[in-house]
Amino acid sequence: MKIAVIGTGRIGGTLGQRWHAAGHEVAYGSRADMVAAHGAALAGKVVVDAVNRIGEPVVNSHAAITAAAPRCRYVRAFNTLGWENFAEPPPGAAMFFAADPGARPAAEELIIAVGLEPVFAGDADASATVDALLPLWFALVRHNGGDRRVALRITR
Ligand SMILES: NC(=O)c1ccc[n+]([C@@H]2O[C@H](COP(=O)([O-])OP(=O)(O)OC[C@H]3O[C@@H](n4cnc5c(N)ncnc54)[C@H](OP(=O)(O)O)[C@@H]3O)[C@@H](O)[C@H]2O)c1
Repeated sequence: MKIAVIGTGRIGGTLGQRWHAAGHEVAYGSRADMVAAHGAALAGKVVVDAVNRIGEPVVNSHAAITAAAPRCRYVRAFNTLGWENFAEPPPGAAMFFAADPGARPAAEELIIAVGLEPVFAGDADASATVDALLPLWFALVRHNGGDRRVALRITR
């Protein structure tokens, strides 16, 4: 895949490195009004939202992204675990995600490339369901000595 990562910090930098290592072509950007400026060009493209608007009532950017790029394929993922789990994924750790129809295969490939197990929670309307895991993860870290290398696993 050709991947543009917006953000060069812990999340953008770590995910970009992992996807590059898996053989994908990765370019980086930072502080660019990417979605607003390229809304039309994003038609049919997969847009992965990993940003958490901490402190706001809705922590994802689904509404803003689809307003600016109504024909993109939105994915909510990579926001419910700390970056340490992307750098060195615990064995079997799950990444819960939501995705527009048609974006699910790309989302699964990107999650697998990082070394996590993709777990589909529903279409983009299920973004809040994914986001509900965020306070759980923070609680697990807080009540386990601050160890951020903690993740959930699915058993079947
Ligand atoms: N850290 C985690 O474990 C984690 C896990 C899941 C999700 N997230 C979410 O991922 C996002 C990035 O977190 P991070 O830990 O990677 O942060 P970070 O290391 O501080 O990196 C932030 C990146 O965003 C850019 N940036 C900062 N303020 C901005 C603004 N006002 N407008 C546009 N770009 C801005 C920074 O640009 P400069 O380099 O120019 O400063 C940098 O590239 C946050 O929303 C966070 O909630 C983080």
